[in-house]
Amino acid sequence: MEVDSLPPNGLESSRKVEECPFHRLNSISGHCPPYNPPMAQLSVNVNKVATLRNTRHLDIPNVIKVSRISLDAGAHGITVHPRPDQRHIRPQDVYDIANLLETSYPQAEFNIEGNPFDQYMHYAKDVRPTQCTLVPDTRDVPTSNTGWDLTPANLDRLRPVVKELKDHGSRVSLFLNPQLEQVERAAKLGADRIELYTEPYAAAFARGDARAADPYVAAANRAKELGLEVNAGHDLNLDNLPPLVRQIPFLAEVSIGHALIADALELGLAETVRRYVRAARAQ
Ligand code: PXP
Repeated sequence: MEVDSLPPNGLESSRKVEECPFHRLNSISGHCPPYNPPMAQLSVNVNKVATLRNTRHLDIPNVIKVSRISLDAGAHGITVHPRPDQRHIRPQDVYDIANLLETSYPQAEFNIEGNPFDQYMHYAKDVRPTQCTLVPDTRDVPTSNTGWDLTPANLDRLRPVVKELKDHGSRVSLFLNPQLEQVERAAKLGADRIELYTEPYAAAFARGDARAADPYVAAANRAKELGLEVNAGHDLNLDNLPPLVRQIPFLAEVSIGHALIADALELGLAETVRRYVRAARAQ
């Protein structure tokens, strides 16, 4: 099977008409359906770039530059997760990335994650991103570490939030653990999508658990039945992503930061060292 190289932003369907694995068999009876290989869209989370930048004062690395490189390389969108303590993405980053996408990548998606009850809604209102991913993270957590518990009280709090964001024209996605009753409540709430919290999947996969994706497949299938689209994120990487996409072929989007930036360091290190060796020779 073969997939064309992605066009800028990966926005157009880049899939070649592939040969269905059953083509030869089915074509005898003339009933071979079109075969679409699974393909989730990639939103690059640039939080880690901002984390590194914030340790110094010269705006290096630059989140706009990294966003451009990501989009030029085929990412379909950029994700940020501004937190109240501004430890990585700062308010100005949100506005600068919004401006970049509006002016240079109008088809790319902007996904802003955050807790709608803690300094989030003003971004959504000002920027009107393509997607608002609502996350129940408290201030003391180093990173999002669980999905919403959609209790009746939380549903009551979230209902006007979801409505307001949708009124702004943003798609609303709720960060969820892979639990069927939570998926059902998200559908009742009127969310457009759910984002499955995949850290437990990544951990189980790393342990060699062949059934690591099972709860995710079940939750994703239930979401699909209820008309919700499905995203996934957290600790996805080059090893655990392909099997997840194969098992949830209708996965709409994955947002990836930590492993992607770590891989960029490793995969880009040799060329970077070569350039510094040349620079040190004043070349
Ligand atoms: N989704 C959500 C809601 C997140 O908070 C994060 C981390 O900011 C991610 C996805 C991306 O996770 P990772 O950095 O592990 O790829």
